[in-house]
Order: sequence, then structure tokens, then C-alpha cells
Amino acid sequence: MEIQTDYLVIGTGIAGLSFALEAAKSGSVVIVTKKEMAEGATNYAQGGIASVFDPEDSFESHIKDTLESGDGLCNERIVRMVVEDGPARIRDLIAMGVQFTRQAEDKTVLDLGREGGHSSRRIVHTKDLTGREVERILLERAQANKNIQIYENHMAIDLITKSKMIKRGIIVSESKETCWGAYVLGVDKGQVITLMARVTVLSTGGAGKVYLYTSNPDIATGDGVAVGYRAGARVANMEFVQFHPTCLYHHEAKNFLISEAVRGEGGVLLDKRGRRFMENYHPLKDLAFRDVVARSIDMELKKSGDECVYLDISHRPPDFVIDRFPNIYESCLKFQIDITKEPIPVVPAAHYMCGGLITDENGRTNLDNLYAIGEVACTGLHGANRLASNSLLEALVFARRAAERSAKRIEEKRRESFPRVPEWDPGSATDSEEIVVVSHNWDEIRRFMWNYVGIVRTNKRLERAKRRVELIQDEIKEYYWNFLVTRDLLELRNIALVADLIINCALLRKESRGLHYNLDYDSKDDEYGRRDTIV
Ligand code: SIN
Repeated sequence: MEIQTDYLVIGTGIAGLSFALEAAKSGSVVIVTKKEMAEGATNYAQGGIASVFDPEDSFESHIKDTLESGDGLCNERIVRMVVEDGPARIRDLIAMGVQFTRQAEDKTVLDLGREGGHSSRRIVHTKDLTGREVERILLERAQANKNIQIYENHMAIDLITKSKMIKRGIIVSESKETCWGAYVLGVDKGQVITLMARVTVLSTGGAGKVYLYTSNPDIATGDGVAVGYRAGARVANMEFVQFHPTCLYHHEAKNFLISEAVRGEGGVLLDKRGRRFMENYHPLKDLAFRDVVARSIDMELKKSGDECVYLDISHRPPDFVIDRFPNIYESCLKFQIDITKEPIPVVPAAHYMCGGLITDENGRTNLDNLYAIGEVACTGLHGANRLASNSLLEALVFARRAAERSAKRIEEKRRESFPRVPEWDPGSATDSEEIVVVSHNWDEIRRFMWNYVGIVRTNKRLERAKRRVELIQDEIKEYYWNFLVTRDLLELRNIALVADLIINCALLRKESRGLHYNLDYDSKDDEYGRRDTIV
């Protein structure tokens, strides 16, 4: 089956939906998402969107904080652009109907939260459920838009590109590497659709599932980076994996984040004996940059042999805590933890990928017609360590810019016809009877990534991980060609590739900077290290 559209958007988070809504003004949009449409990282984002609204705050100060957090690797031009576009993008959301929390005394004024590394209160939020609220409105709008069609349970296998067409003997006129959409697996029926598009947007989110412990939902398997890289898109800075310092530590809890906003409202980190320890690591204490806090917790745990540390907000009035953090309060209560009375057991977990597909200021990759926006992209905003709550902001700003940029050329593109692309060829592949191979490899990758490529690395551990990932990739390749594709197999193939990219980037960086901390290099090397790691 073949479908043709102006715009193909892969992913239904804040980036993909914002792009789709804007693009639908100039053409037809097909959105595919590999699970249900609301099941993405956006939906779980608790903190909010960083932007300058406080009259005492300034763009210069937000820029300074972002650059400092990025530890010498941010692109200052991009940082300025994103920070300055921020308030307008948030007003767009408000105009669409997003209900952000307002100040109790004056409902016309946004309530601004605080998070680590920010020198002012600047986090626009909906209590501790910001992502859910934004996603709700964007989805409502997208579903009501007659130019947008959403396909749930459809997963991109690979992009359709000029080189792939040439390999299959098809003559194409484009001189540059070009993308015309993607082969997409309909998960329920197992059929593969040829989805031809004049513009393709990767907005698939992050890759936390590469690690054993993560704050991310199950869908975060690095699909966008993997399909983009396989198609020839350039990738950078994959060594900068951000570990969130505070995920709930409980044997029954899966991926539950305790927002940094809890520390922003006075929450403090304690060891098992009830002692504060962040003052031993950084002058900003519990509100230091995220890489510093995660590493400090890691050191405390290694020193003490304890399984977790504790985050305590119980000294604040219970009414305030329940009103400000209703989701965290309710969720912890399900595990018999009353956060108004006792500290919350927490550990760091993989949270955000600062690297990704390299894009310009309009979200364009190096392939014609291919854009990447949101966590999947490496725009230059985050550098070596993303500042808290800058990611939803980045998604909004780049989605708008990418939609405006691509709309300018859509008329012209419509005049060219699509190349004739062959249907997906399964060859002699058969149904697999060995699903255990897939789950075993998943598990192995996630464990060695956690143990060897985690918060603290060494060259020896990285080399070890490299050997293992290469072996697993060989096995996956064999499996991939012999058996019919399934979502599990595609995800495994993607996380293995993303793990490989992380390890390769980590091996290339011969220093410790931002989120990449390697015991073999005790500091930054500004002569050689102040550049992106490009693969
Ligand atoms: C949080 O609420 O702590 C997460 C915010 C973010 O990762 O930007």
C-alpha cells in the first residue's frame, strides 16, 4: 500500500504536534506514532517550559544560565534565538487553550517555578503535570484538524532516500541526498506501508530505554536518531546523556520522576543518615546543574554502599506540597510514601539525550526534505548538559521554524512528482519463533550501558561496551534479514545502533565535560574538547 502526503511527521510529542498544526495550514499532514498517540515523553514531562516572564528576569540571564550549563559547547546564536522566541511560543500555547498555573494572588500572572541551574524563577508550568496539559491541547487540535491524519501503532522502519532508490535500480534526478518519506510498519496487521512525503519530520523523542534505569516511557528507543543515521543524516554529541538526579526508588515503581521543581521549592537531598551532602559538592547545593547533582549522588552511593538517597520536602506546609505537586504526592502515596511527612527515596536515571541528528536553525538535517525536531535533534542549544526545562522550549521554537521554512517551498515541491518507489520487500523472511533472542539482547544492552557507559565512565569500560555492542549488532543483523519485522525487533535494532553511537562518541571525547565524565581525564581540555563529536 502507498500513501502520499505533503508532510510526514513521525512522533506525536510536543515537537511533532506543534509542527503538524502549523504545517497543516499549507498542506496535508500524516502523523505516525508507534503506540497510542498520547504515549510519549511530553506526556510525562513534569517540570515545565523555561522562559522569561518575570520582570526581574532577562533574556541575557536565561542565555547565561543555558551557556553555563552547556559547559562550553552550546551554540550561542541558537541559544539566543530560542530564548528570545520563547515567550511568543508560550503565548501561542495559551491562545490554543493550555492552562498554565497562575499566581494565587493575581490570576493574570503566570506562576513561575524554579529548577537547578536557573538564576531566576522562569519555569512556566501546570502544577507538576505540564507535559500532560500541553499534550492534551495539541492532540485535541490535531484530531480536529481536517488536514491532519494520525496513524497510531505505526512505526517507521527506514527512510526512503535517493541512495536507497539507486541501490534498487531506480533512476532519480536529485543531485543531493534526498528523503521522500518512510517505510512504515502497521504494528497490528504486520503490513508495511510506503509513505511518500514531500517533507519528512523526525520528532520521535529520546533514547532513555538504552539504559537499564530511566525516567523515560517505553517508547524512548532512539528511533529517530537510528533511522536518520542509517539514511545518512549526521549525528553529534551522543556521549551527553543526561541522568536525572531524582527518580523514585521503589521496587514496584517504573520510571517515575520526582521533578527538579521539588528542589526548586525547597526540597533537599539527604543521605540515609539524614545528612545534607550537596554543600560538599557545589555552591548552588541542591540546585546545582543537573550533571553535578547526579554525579554527587552517584559518588555518595558508591562511598556509602547505600541503594538510594532521599529527597525531603516535608518541612514545607502540607497544603502547599499537595497543591503544587499533586501528581507526585498521589503517585508516591500509592507506594505508601507520604511526601508531606517523610523523605522520598531517589536514585539517578537516564533522562534526556542532548545529542542527536544535527540540524540548522530551522530544524533541517543534511538530507534534503528531512527535518528533525525535539529531543531527537542536536541543534546547539544544550551543549554538553541541557539546562532544566529548556527542552519543551526548544521543541516549540524549532517546530514553528521548521514548519515555516518547509511551507515556503511546499508549492514548488508539489510541482515535482514523487519517484516510483518499490513496495517493501520482505525477501524470504519468515515469522520468528525465537522472540527470546530479542528480549535477551535488549536486556544485555541496557545492562552494559548502565554499568559501562553510565554517569561515570572509563576508557576500559567504554572499550568493553564497544566489543559487546558490536557482537549484538551482528546477531541483530542476521535476525533482521531472516525474520519478518515486528515493533520489538525494530526497537532492538534501533537501541543497539544508538548504544553504539553513544559509545563511539564517548570514546572520541578525550576529556571530561558536562555530562560526559571519564575517570581517565580529570578535567576539560579547552584546546581540543570545545567542539561537537560528529559521527
Ligand atoms: C523535571 O521536572 O525535573 C524534569 C524537567 C526537565 O527535564 O527539564
